[in-house]
Amino acid sequence: MLSFMSAKEAAQKWNISQRRVSVLCSENRIKGAMMVGNMWIIPSNAEKPDDKRIRCEKETVSTLKPFVKWVGGKSQLIDELEKMLLDNGDKVLTKYCEPMVGGGALLFNILSKHRFENLYISDINSELINAYNAIKYNVHELILQLKEMQLTFLPMDENGRKFFYHFIRDKFNNTKLHDETSIKKAAYFIFLNKTCFNGLYRVNRKGEFNVPMGAYKNPTICDEENLLNISNVLQNVTIVCGDYSLSKNFIDNSTFVYFDPPYRPISETSTFTSYTSDSFDDNEQIRLAEFINEINSTGAKIVLSNSDPKNINKQDTFFDDLYKAYKIKRVSASRMINSKADSRGKISELLICN
Ligand SMILES: C[S@@+](CC[C@H](N)C(=O)[O-])C[C@H]1O[C@@H](n2cnc3c(N)ncnc32)[C@H](O)[C@@H]1O
Repeated sequence: MLSFMSAKEAAQKWNISQRRVSVLCSENRIKGAMMVGNMWIIPSNAEKPDDKRIRCEKETVSTLKPFVKWVGGKSQLIDELEKMLLDNGDKVLTKYCEPMVGGGALLFNILSKHRFENLYISDINSELINAYNAIKYNVHELILQLKEMQLTFLPMDENGRKFFYHFIRDKFNNTKLHDETSIKKAAYFIFLNKTCFNGLYRVNRKGEFNVPMGAYKNPTICDEENLLNISNVLQNVTIVCGDYSLSKNFIDNSTFVYFDPPYRPISETSTFTSYTSDSFDDNEQIRLAEFINEINSTGAKIVLSNSDPKNINKQDTFFDDLYKAYKIKRVSASRMINSKADSRGKISELLICN
């Protein structure tokens, strides 16, 4: 009589991830696999499918976009970063790690095209990480709440919108983040990000979000399809709230690690470092470089981006000195060069890798 095993048992037997087994089943690559309810069952005598591939091989999933606009988002450098990810000679990279993930411009681009067996993301911003977790674990409830806010906000005139925006901002600031409020807070967080000035996340000394409303005519507050697609890929991702150094145990010689720390301000008026109430000063940049030196010894492929201090002072060799043991590439990007939204210019950015 034919007996069956679960996807979990097959994963253990073949030493691959359970998610990978599900993908192979859905691609019809395991003979006799069947969906029962919402689970795959696989004939116990099924052979491990030939699954030779570069583990970060190209794969067309859905096109994923960041679910928030985030200062320092790396959309313009994606092609360069992707080249660095793929340029590994014979090395097989099976793990992806982004310890300062922010809005995840690279993460979502990569997840739209490549698959990894293990992924790890983290950020120090607890509200942002709460939103990632809400999308991972409670996406349908989150979508309902976002739709409700969208339906209320969009038909309003400017005064009505301002009133509603401040009402939600107060609720966000007056609601403590814990298990029972987590979906609500994630919905407020995404709503505020989509409707505030320039998608900024800025808090005052008391930790209260204080960005004014933006002037978008028709902002998409609930991009249902994108949220569902993101939720799907996040099932395979470890999400951590905390310092980047917590990623140390995850990183090994088959890991691609991308660091995108808060920029060293490129002008005196720049407020780029105010993601949380703590700033990321030169001592923090040095601590990060020390951490990178530490994980460099694992053999991981490491890439770091930052602003180029030479944009304003040709003599400033801060990063050239800090990363003199690494390859430093200068690429041109268009970016806000001070706190005024209209002050955009071509500047050079640093891409540093081992
Ligand atoms: C330049 S942004 C990253 C932008 C991101 N690449 C994107 O595409 O949106 C830097 C991020 O580092 C986070 N951060 C700052 N200090 C951190 C720390 N010590 N550990 C982890 N994340 C930190 C900030 O909260 C912020 O989201």
